Amino acid sequence: MEQTEVMKPHTLDDLVKVLNQIFASDYVNVEEVQNIMEAYESKPQEWAKFAKFDQFRYTRNLVDVGNGKYNLMILCWGEGHGSSIHDHTDSHCFMKMLQGHLKETLYEWPDHKSHGEMAQKSQRILQENQCAYISDSLGLHRVENVSHTESAVSLHLYSPPFQQCNTFDQRTGHKNTVKLTFWSKFGERTPFETTVSQENN
Ligand SMILES: [Fe+2]
Repeated sequence: MEQTEVMKPHTLDDLVKVLNQIFASDYVNVEEVQNIMEAYESKPQEWAKFAKFDQFRYTRNLVDVGNGKYNLMILCWGEGHGSSIHDHTDSHCFMKMLQGHLKETLYEWPDHKSHGEMAQKSQRILQENQCAYISDSLGLHRVENVSHTESAVSLHLYSPPFQQCNTFDQRTGHKNTVKLTFWSKFGERTPFETTVSQENN
């Protein structure tokens, strides 16, 4: 069996460079991206400038725009913070743990006929440095920092980039479109963006 050799990025800057190269091509090899993101060993001093927390909910902090091919961002989850159930706007979504743990719950797309409780497919705890992957063809998910004592930080890559997604009510499957905003960009707080909603990711 052919084995793809994984290049190990030694720093976050290295990782960004490698991702830029990979996404220069139009074809995305999901496994390759996942392996490379997983191979980077998280070092807080390399990403601390992007990791800006909010007291009330998780934040999205833009790191790199990948020449228009993807958005790379750091999400900061305070104790007990979590996302809604959401989709990924037909994009690839990679999610790597930089610090702490996150619980990921996978759901089936809602059945339009039933209007009932959404069906849960699986649940897992993501460990430090692990890189998860999801796309609309795999279903929907909810991501939560269930810890009451530890914050969590994760690195997300979305390709192609998107500015809105849908959130879903677990009890009814009812869908809502939400606009996505950034809490900071390239290490600088972005107070000028109205925080309509930050659902997702
Ligand atoms: Fe997500």
